[in-house]
Amino acid sequence: MSTLVWSDDLALGIEQMDQTHVEFVELRNAVEAATDEQLLQRWKDLIDHTQIHFDNEDKWMRDTNFAASNCHTTHHKAVLDVMREGLNYGLKGHFVVVRKMNAELATWFPQHADTMDAALSDYLKRIGYDTATGQIAHPEAMPGGQIHGCSGNTDTDLVATEPAEAASSCGH
Ligand SMILES: [Fe+2]
Ligand SMILES: [Fe+2]
Repeated sequence: MSTLVWSDDLALGIEQMDQTHVEFVELRNAVEAATDEQLLQRWKDLIDHTQIHFDNEDKWMRDTNFAASNCHTTHHKAVLDVMREGLNYGLKGHFVVVRKMNAELATWFPQHADTMDAALSDYLKRIGYDTATGQIAHPEAMPGGQIHGCSGNTDTDLVATEPAEAASSCGH
């Protein structure tokens, strides 16, 4: 049994991002607690929520000079692809694949929040980006040119952590 408990240590100081992350933890834990009858619907709910979660972060990056191909956005897509692959297995009755993937997310999420999301939130705060309006209070703090890395910090651009490796480790 994998556990993921929300704590203030996971908070990054961007209200909308933190609220979404609280919801992610709750939905992931609901999958953890699901009976076989509940499992696929709860996994779909988590996928739908994660799509919105990632779409929002990707939009904030596009709004603030990240290239569409930046590594954080690419990482989001890889994780969602793996989750959807898990759903396909689940629909064929391979519930263990979904459960194992969900367990992997308990490890993946704090790593992602601590690295890519933390770097993004630091950058958004530094440039004064408002997630509600899309306005940037300090555009002069933005780097020149498009950002291809993960953090928006050209000195310490973070190395991407690998997406959940559940698909490759589920024995299919
Ligand atoms: Fe996030
Ligand atoms: Fe993210």
